[in-house]
Amino acid sequence: MTLARIASATWLCLAIAAAAPVAAQTSAADAASAALAAPAPTEQVAAEPRPDDSAAARNKSQPGNNAPVWRAVRDSGEPGKSGTVNVPGAEQGVLIQPTVAYPGVRPNNAGEAWRQVRNRWLIPYGGALLLITLLALALFYWRRGALGHSHNDGRPAVERFTPLERAAHWTNAAAFVVLGVSGVVMAFGKFFLLPVIGGTLFGWLAYALKTAHNFAGPMFAVSLTVVVLIFVKDNIANGADFNWLAKAGGMLGHQVPSHRFNAAEKGIFWWGMTIPGLLMVASGLVLDKLLPMTYLRGDMQIALMVHICAAVVMLVMLIGHIYMGTVGVNGALKGMRTGWVDAAWAAEHHLLWFNDVRAGKIAANRSGVAPPDGTGVAPGADAPLPAVPRA
Ligand code: HEM
Repeated sequence: MTLARIASATWLCLAIAAAAPVAAQTSAADAASAALAAPAPTEQVAAEPRPDDSAAARNKSQPGNNAPVWRAVRDSGEPGKSGTVNVPGAEQGVLIQPTVAYPGVRPNNAGEAWRQVRNRWLIPYGGALLLITLLALALFYWRRGALGHSHNDGRPAVERFTPLERAAHWTNAAAFVVLGVSGVVMAFGKFFLLPVIGGTLFGWLAYALKTAHNFAGPMFAVSLTVVVLIFVKDNIANGADFNWLAKAGGMLGHQVPSHRFNAAEKGIFWWGMTIPGLLMVASGLVLDKLLPMTYLRGDMQIALMVHICAAVVMLVMLIGHIYMGTVGVNGALKGMRTGWVDAAWAAEHHLLWFNDVRAGKIAANRSGVAPPDGTGVAPGADAPLPAVPRA
């Protein structure tokens, strides 16, 4: 009896266990066919993602895909698409700048395009130009040595530069050297200094030089203005300059007569100093944020590109000037150091100017300050000097 009961209970359990999946399948099939038959409630069907989705819509259609957020970030520089921010200030809602097309690189967002212009063009080609200049001057010095016979070690005869002119010149030169050295380290230091002195020292050096650069800039701007005003009247081109240029300044033979400054000096005055100097100073004042204006990223990028171009031109030309002013021309440095030149130097390098001094058209002592050795002024005293027709 008991055995029969147990057997029937076991059979019942097995029957229920076997029937359950069948029942489940049946109800799932029923539900599916009911779902197909009934119209789908809209909020449950995943909409296809679209490019103009809001972040909320995309979060529903493709949870975890936040492309709309990044699209908004990318387009925040386009007109009318900047984001909304709580921090006041110009351009705060622009996370990525709009696309620009600069020469030499593909159109890209302005930040990236600027980076490419700087790193692919300005730095490598600017650096190459500076190295070529140094190499060319070294070769020239090796083959030709210093130019000129006179060493300007005779009796001071003509005041070539007044104390004011020298003070302005040397202040400007000092500021330029600080700017040049610090600028070169900032632009090219990671190629030639970093591998030698290591990251820590280079970091400190670059920081110190960048600070020096920021302070020397305004000093350069002021002294450059004074230098331009002082020397401009003697740097206007005239007929003698064309003659000088046609004969390459006497590179291939005798010195060609010139007025106070020759055509090469005038060229450097305008194309190596005044024009790039104005561009350097203007762009530098923008980079230092010293001008009263609203500073946008694009302004800074353009200012930096102008600054680097002008700096390379100015460095190339003024390296040439410094070469001629130191080892390139005998006696020239003494003229700028003491202010005075002897008659032989004046006649050899600037005969038309010296003739004007001898003729009394230009005062031999313009400042009224005696020359360093106190011997007084006697223009032409070291004669004999050739009489040369004026240009
Ligand atoms: C440390 C570097 C420099 C040295 C050694 C140097 C040397 C000289 C020398 C010796 C002269 C006299 C040339 C002559 O008698 O004909 C001179 C003239 C002159 N220098 Fe410099 N100089 C230096 C830097 C500069 C800089 C940075 C500037 C301007 C950015 C400059 C602008 C001038 C000007 C305007 C003249 C008069 C010549 C002219 O107007 O054409 N110099 N320099």
